[in-house]
Amino acid sequence: MAAATVTSTTTSSCSSYYYLLCCFFAAAVCLIAPSLTTGVDAGPLDANLTAELSVDASFRRPIPSTLFGIFFEEINHAGAGGLWAELVSNRGFEAGGPNTPSNIDPWLVIGDSSFVVLSTDRSSPFERNKVALRMDVLCDLESCPSGGVGVYNPGFWGMNIEGGKKYKLVLYVRSLDSIDVSVLLTGSNGLRTLATTIIKGPASAVSDWTKVETVLEAEETDHGARLELRTSKKGVIWFDQVSLMPEDTYKGHGFRSELVEMLKEIKPRFIRFPGGCFVEGEWLRNAFRWKESVGPWEERPGHFGDVWMYWTDDGLGHYEFLQLAEDLDTVPIWVFNNGISHQDQVDTSSILPFVQEALDGIEFARGDASSKWGSLRASMGHPEPFNLKHVAVGNEDCGKKNYRGNYLKFYEAIKRVYPDIQIISNCDGSSHPLDHPADYYDFHVYTDASNLFSMSHQFDHTSRSGPKAFVSEYAVTGKDAGTGSLLAALGEAAFLIGVEKNSDIVEMASYAPLFVNTNDRRWNPDAIVFNASKAYGTPSYWMQRFFAESSGGYLVNSTLVTSSSSSLVASAITYQDSKDRNTYLRIKVVNFASSTVNLKISVSGLGANTVGLSGSTKTELTSANVMDENSFQQPNKVAPAQSMLQNAGKDMDVLISPNSLTSFDLLIESNSIWTRRSDPLVSVM
Ligand code: AHR
Repeated sequence: MAAATVTSTTTSSCSSYYYLLCCFFAAAVCLIAPSLTTGVDAGPLDANLTAELSVDASFRRPIPSTLFGIFFEEINHAGAGGLWAELVSNRGFEAGGPNTPSNIDPWLVIGDSSFVVLSTDRSSPFERNKVALRMDVLCDLESCPSGGVGVYNPGFWGMNIEGGKKYKLVLYVRSLDSIDVSVLLTGSNGLRTLATTIIKGPASAVSDWTKVETVLEAEETDHGARLELRTSKKGVIWFDQVSLMPEDTYKGHGFRSELVEMLKEIKPRFIRFPGGCFVEGEWLRNAFRWKESVGPWEERPGHFGDVWMYWTDDGLGHYEFLQLAEDLDTVPIWVFNNGISHQDQVDTSSILPFVQEALDGIEFARGDASSKWGSLRASMGHPEPFNLKHVAVGNEDCGKKNYRGNYLKFYEAIKRVYPDIQIISNCDGSSHPLDHPADYYDFHVYTDASNLFSMSHQFDHTSRSGPKAFVSEYAVTGKDAGTGSLLAALGEAAFLIGVEKNSDIVEMASYAPLFVNTNDRRWNPDAIVFNASKAYGTPSYWMQRFFAESSGGYLVNSTLVTSSSSSLVASAITYQDSKDRNTYLRIKVVNFASSTVNLKISVSGLGANTVGLSGSTKTELTSANVMDENSFQQPNKVAPAQSMLQNAGKDMDVLISPNSLTSFDLLIESNSIWTRRSDPLVSVM
């Protein structure tokens, strides 16, 4: 772990001294008392809690428009077999390595070895991925088993094939004889046919590698389907680069639509990609390298990510990440390898080729369509530059021997060519100043729920000069989190309330990891859980929904006074709703204790404006047990519940449920003071 990472071994509880200082220096952001109870068992002191929250809406401060975003890492099959909708796993037969014969897993034979033999050779037409599949068919129409023999691909633990939907098949084929190949989508045991087509051609048409493109329309649904290539014709056939894509990907860009919709729901303002440790690699030779992930998909070599231990065909590459950022209307934040992996490092004296690789990656993203790398981007379908303005030099590498030396080489070169690019350092600047130039420093925290709850004060004393903080990875982990508990979400919500209040210095924050395919859980917990056909959000995913309106809103001054508890935090913001265009005051409260709280809310500073009696709502995330989780069977067991707020007004008595995150969205009836940022009536904090 790098210096910028806080783990459960680092405590950050708020001592009395800390609390006093905190109140002295930052009264508006200091709300919790010194000692802390856990959300699991708050104890008798927390019985009959009362609290008062005073919100002074005349003091407000703009919140950065980028404050809350997402971090996509290729971990847990988040991309391959996940967000990237490609249904064929190991489509180019490269996953077993460049040497032949190689393992073609998960492809499997249809028929036994007296009828058909599968092997690999290096006859592919693609220079960067030479391995192809050779299929020797030993039987013919008379002697082959009924339906023929061949090869099938089960996808990533089964393909989700849905009746009525279309799937685009592309494959490359070669044979010295004519071919007659049936392409089928079948149920998981191969017995039920969902869609079929036939590829036929004379020897003259297929004696050289030939690209075949066709569309399969499924007549039935199977969530664990497979793709089969069968024949009853004796001879030798080679296959390579076999791809099957649903036609209904998001904007036709290859992303699994329902997963993108879930991302849109939390309104991310930036997307950091593609890792994480995935960027570093256990060894440099296995790190993600952007140049290997661009250009025609068939020509990409793919690679084995040796940190999370799986192969990716790299269909989801540098271009697609930038496209995803654009499709989500978010700011892209590219993390590149800085010549450092977990196990090996490039010496600073030899780092320049890596610096050039990063510069080229920026040119690919935003260079003119006539530039060397910009022209490749244009040829892939995006002549206009992508809006890349942020890059991170490595991931969690600060403590490593060559980091500072390498970092400076990247920093100087990038600033020379692209002075407007914002550069993110891996070193933690939250407690002491950085010893090198940076626009942002990266801050990671994985810890237990109580500790993260107390870290709502983490940035209260951070210097306001110097680079801004980018909390690019935060989460409750360990036994408090299970595989995504309410308790974890509450600790995280309290931490984010602290981030929101310190958003003059913390400009961006994202939960990690974002996705997990349940067939390959490499990291627990995660925000969005899926398999081939289903997906649900963990409480931590839903927790982020409560912060979706904060980016670009205004932080409002709020002060919380509680009877005895240290288990309550709160904040207030104003925002304009993107749909109804109304202005709302949103008050968020995290109750980390297992007792109900009687909360008196008083709102002042609204001037001539009033709180609408109708149109104001309460939204609550809670559950009977603080360790409750969602699942495929009960995807919404712990999900926000919204109701109309009957007693909406400037003064309200409300009940805050035990172990809950609650937001009150108060409709502000006149927009006069809210819509003008520089209104003289409004003091900016
Ligand atoms: O989010 C999972 C991992 O945690 C990331 O790859 C890494 O940056 C951190 O250690």
